This record gives sequence, C-alpha cells and structure tokens, in this order.
Amino acid sequence: MRNYRSFTGPEQAAHFLADELKALSLAGDTSHVVLSGGSTPRLWFEILAQPPYAEAIRWTSLHFWWGDERCVPAQDADSNYGQAKRLLFDHVAIPTGNLHPMRGGEKPEAEARRLSEEIESMVAKQQGLPVFDWIILGMGADGHTASLFPEQTDFSEKRLAVVARHPQSGQKRISLSATQLAACRRLTFLVLGADKAARVSEIFSHPAGSLPYPAARISAAHGPTEWYLDTASASDLPETASTASVSD
Ligand code: 6PG
Repeated sequence: MRNYRSFTGPEQAAHFLADELKALSLAGDTSHVVLSGGSTPRLWFEILAQPPYAEAIRWTSLHFWWGDERCVPAQDADSNYGQAKRLLFDHVAIPTGNLHPMRGGEKPEAEARRLSEEIESMVAKQQGLPVFDWIILGMGADGHTASLFPEQTDFSEKRLAVVARHPQSGQKRISLSATQLAACRRLTFLVLGADKAARVSEIFSHPAGSLPYPAARISAAHGPTEWYLDTASASDLPETASTASVSD
C-alpha cells in the first residue's frame, strides 16, 4: 500500500525533509543516505546549507551517495554531484570522506563496477545486499526514477549499479539498480509540481505490477516507502489514495 504526505508547496516539503535529515543525523553514529539528482531537491539542498540546519545537523554521522549520475565530469552543469556540492556540501562541515559520488567523468561500465565495490565495502548488508538507511528519489513525468527508465529497466538485475542511456537525449548515465534502490530502510519519492500530477495519479490508482514505471515498481524492502507530494503534484489523486497525513 502506497501512502503519501501532501505539502502546501515545495518550501514546506523541503523543511520537513530537512527536519527528517536532522533527526537521522542525531539518531545514530553512521547513516548512509542516497540523494536524487534533477531539479526537485535543489530547494532542499539550499535550505540545508543555511541556519539552522547547517549547524544543527550532525554531518559527521551522514554518508551521502547518489541514485544516479550523468556521465559528465563533476564540474559540468549537468552533474548531480556537482549540483549538490555547489548548493550544499561546499557550505557545511562534512568530511570529504563522507561523500561518495559516482564519477561521471570515468568510463561508465568501469565506474559502475567501482561504485558497486565501494558500496559493498561501506554499507552494511542484510540478506546479502547492502542496505541504505534512507533513499530519496525523484520521478520524471514518464515515471522514471534515478536513471531507470520505463521499458528499459531490469527489475531483477543482480548488479548494484548499471549503465543506462536517457531515452530522449541519449545521454549515458550511471544508476543504482532497481535491486539496490529497493535495499533500504526508508524510501522517499520527492515528487513536486503539476507536470508530475498525471503520473502520480496513475501510479496511485493502479497496482504497481501493472505499470511499466520504475517509480511505481520500486519499494523499500526493509521499511516504509513514502511519497512526498505538493498540492500541484497531488492535484489529480483519486479519492481512494491513502494519505499518511497532510503536512505543512
Ligand atoms: C536525474 C534524476 C532523475 C530525476 C527525475 C526528476 O539525474 O535527472 O536522478 O531521476 O530525479 O528526472 O527530475 P526533476 O526533479 O528535475 O523533475
């Protein structure tokens, strides 16, 4: 059963997520968090980089990974890591060793293998798979997530990271696999804006297995899967959709 939390707008969603990250940082010694790319998390990054969060979050307890990366160098405007570094990590006291970017400038297949080895070496396993503490993903209007695209995703892929190609632009990507994205204690889809409303509505009104969308088919194996929406992206939801709560 999917449930969602609906926020008035992006600001409210970003502040809620910032409070959640602060709580995680204070809850234990080490947590492994996967961030999404794209434009949706920018506001969240900017809020985290300022008081009170920049000082209140225990950055030393958090390790950050990425759900996917464009095959470009970190300095490229397209880089998901470069974006997070510019908006957030250059402004907070986080040890460099706590950041685990996918190296978009390297040969994709080799980098996918290297990244998988890094995850294996650092993230504790359960049932044979590294399990992340919290994965935050976005969703494209076509229902893709990370760089797993409809009709191009092997949901039984055994590898932890794969090479993909954006169906429109042809841009090569590195992505955590569906198997690795499901291996987490908490999975949050942060999906905001009117351009996602139709797909959100379709996902919330059909059984996951009946849809080709990776964002519909991937759920957390060791904890909750939650959708953080705003009024715009939730505007077409069917009455039957179950709300975890309406937050502000
Ligand atoms: C990427 C992302 C991708 C993104 C969605 C939504 O590298 O682009 O990881 O999966 O989350 O495409 O993108 P927006 O947030 O820009 O709508």
